[in-house]
Amino acid sequence: MQELLKFSALHRYTKALSVALHERDPYTRFHCERVINLATEVGIACKLADRELVLLGVSASFHDVGKIGIPDSVLRKPGKLDADEWEIMKTHSERGERILRATSLPDAPAVANIIRHHHEHFDGSGYPDALSGDGIPLLARILSMADSYDAMATVRAYHRPRTHEEILAAMRAEVGIKFDPSMFAHFEEVIEKSPSRTK
Ligand SMILES: [Fe+2]
Repeated sequence: MQELLKFSALHRYTKALSVALHERDPYTRFHCERVINLATEVGIACKLADRELVLLGVSASFHDVGKIGIPDSVLRKPGKLDADEWEIMKTHSERGERILRATSLPDAPAVANIIRHHHEHFDGSGYPDALSGDGIPLLARILSMADSYDAMATVRAYHRPRTHEEILAAMRAEVGIKFDPSMFAHFEEVIEKSPSRTK
């Protein structure tokens, strides 16, 4: 995947953006790298074309770039967010979309669209547009599973890292709610043999 990404002008030119985000929130650096790898593995299992794999990889790399615009009091809060803070945090997907679009590079609109929708839920309960089912871009549905798995596998201020079995149990409970059932079948197959699988 790193080979494919090398040829993406968008990925090269926006690299500074992710470095800037990592300066604000070091956690996102390693999180993004693992999400790129896991999303790409799922994309390959779904037989995506090379161009789609590149778009997926770039989107995974920058999916949380909008967090640059989230105040430290929310982004770096060492505990659970309250309702108001959570509303602020939720704006990161639209902020990320705007940042990517502003690059005016050829693939930017496609990547910006995936970033906008990476927190939509299959049943329409997600944000920012409450899209549902096939109305959610396919690459955003794939990204959402990789993002969720890795978020639960890593330690954050407000939760310990969960085990592989705990994460899968939590994700299975959200199939049809948060996750696309047909995509989740690919995810389950991939994660068992993935280097990104946690213990
Ligand atoms: Fe996000």
